Amino acid sequence: MTDKELLAEAEKAAANSYSKYSRFRVGAALLAEDGRVFTGCNIENASYSLTNCAERTAVFKAVSEGVTSFRAIAVVGSPDGDFSRPCQPCGACLQVLSEFCGDDLMVILSNSWFKLSDFLPMRFGADNLK
Ligand code: THU
Repeated sequence: MTDKELLAEAEKAAANSYSKYSRFRVGAALLAEDGRVFTGCNIENASYSLTNCAERTAVFKAVSEGVTSFRAIAVVGSPDGDFSRPCQPCGACLQVLSEFCGDDLMVILSNSWFKLSDFLPMRFGADNLK
């Protein structure tokens, strides 16, 4: 699975975005250590705060199928189908990703590559609870 292919999977997932309130379509494709890809889209609700972001949809799909180790995530988002501008993961999604992914998780946004730690350098984690 190349980075380009993972981005293409994220774009495909964005086609299923249920975003009738914001009209902002987001898609994510999460590459697991075992090579499987879990995709997700944003799913909105008339009770707005119940919206689930694309990245968390992908993480929850994977974890609910017993997969908890990941290599990379590609994220795309757009109000008009033009996915060339980067769409950064929100703070809630970064925190959820950080539960399962190390600092080195690759985050792929359009033509840019980042590490999870670029966005979330000082995560709150299980160690804080000790
Ligand atoms: N959204 C995501 O799916 N992922 C993010 O990381 C940021 C925002 C969604 C939530 C909402 O449906 C729409 O984008 C506009 O905020």
